[in-house]
Amino acid sequence: MAEQTLKITGGQPLHGEVCVQGAKNSALPMMAAAMLCKDACVLHNVPQLTDVWAASRILNSLGCSCVLRDGQAEIRTDGIHSFEIPDEDMRRMRSSIMFLGPILGRMGACTLTMPGGCELGPRPIDLHLDAMRKMGVHISEQGSRILCRAEGLHGARITLPFPSVGVSENVMMAAVLAKGETVLTNAAREPEIVDIANFLNQCGAQIHGAGESTICIQGVKGLHGTSYTVMADRIAAITWMCAAAATGGRITVSGVNPADLEAALAAMESAGCQLGISGNRIYLDAGRPLRAVRYLRTMPHPGFPTDGQAIMMAVLACAEGTSVIEETIFESRFMHVGELLRMGARIRISGHTAVVHGVSHLHGAELSAMDLRGGAALAVAAVGAQGETLLHGLHHIDRGYENFAETFNSLGGKVQRILF
Ligand code: EPZ
Repeated sequence: MAEQTLKITGGQPLHGEVCVQGAKNSALPMMAAAMLCKDACVLHNVPQLTDVWAASRILNSLGCSCVLRDGQAEIRTDGIHSFEIPDEDMRRMRSSIMFLGPILGRMGACTLTMPGGCELGPRPIDLHLDAMRKMGVHISEQGSRILCRAEGLHGARITLPFPSVGVSENVMMAAVLAKGETVLTNAAREPEIVDIANFLNQCGAQIHGAGESTICIQGVKGLHGTSYTVMADRIAAITWMCAAAATGGRITVSGVNPADLEAALAAMESAGCQLGISGNRIYLDAGRPLRAVRYLRTMPHPGFPTDGQAIMMAVLACAEGTSVIEETIFESRFMHVGELLRMGARIRISGHTAVVHGVSHLHGAELSAMDLRGGAALAVAAVGAQGETLLHGLHHIDRGYENFAETFNSLGGKVQRILF
């Protein structure tokens, strides 16, 4: 069966300006959170992504109505009649686990299946289920189905073993209508958590401390609807800046809060890029040649984001010197390395560490994307490489980037979407 492939001709420095899309990792949980509201919510700046369509499908299968139109999601929940997440949706999008909290919060019950292993290693949901048990949810298994039932959720004191983004979001969403107070410690501090808390508070929730390690949620009786604009996607911003850096170009990304990607900006600066910031515009002028970054470690926010790891590696593959990159968040997030080697990169993996010896340039090759950010990294490497690249597995990239090829071309790149 023909598959969507990118034909990329590398070698031109990219320059221009990109207005960054809405954040996938805020829009998705926020669409789920809208289920907690009695009346309609309108979300603006929702990126047009296959994962957003999948979230819309789940909402509609539960009896809500979700209409996606020109970057807006209009969500009504008065018709809600089910608390079962369809199995094919759980398997299609691992992050559909973020519906667990809102469905429990609204319905007091939820049936789901294991999200299944994926490109980043196993995607366990043990911490999600542990947290829900603490709020009064009884969980049993029936084959691959997980039955969650509660006679009303109650507040709890929950300490996470590590600051999981998804678990922090599920606890917040389950707690807003629970009886009493929930105190979540060692919570994730990602900007997307703050965005969802702001949305829920605008709907009448009582959430304090989002963005810090301790979040307090006072349960309230009900939430009204609201209209809310999703924050900009900091990982998309990093992607476009790295594309400019990999081609020795210049770029301005706008609409994004520079404070949301400080660790990534610091890494780009230490690689020799000149940066300028004014308001929500970030300007990058790539150094020529780029310098290796001695040691880069992915960490929970505000550390260097795991979602930027592959993308930054694509840039450092052609930096002068040796960079050491340690991936501490996901079990296996080096799928892109084998493909970079096919382009002439010199990278050695040992455990969760990649040692990148910079080469003068990469050459085009026939590649396969195996996950979202790894795919984006291969496209970044290809625009900076000499010659032509065929990048298969575009469906991974379409999960997280809207207008992926068009954006490269608006910056002077030569990227064509073809059926192969
Ligand atoms: C969110 O995933 C993001 N997804 C990911 O972005 C991002 O990489 C990740 O946070 C870390 O920042 C969305 O927001 C939709 P975690 P999440 O729970 O919530 C383990 C992208 O490319 N874990 O903070 O799943 C898990 O195995 C995606 O946009 C458990 O062990 O991440 C992994 O090693 C990729 N048990 C780590 O935690 C659990 O119950 C992930 O941390 C839950 C997670």
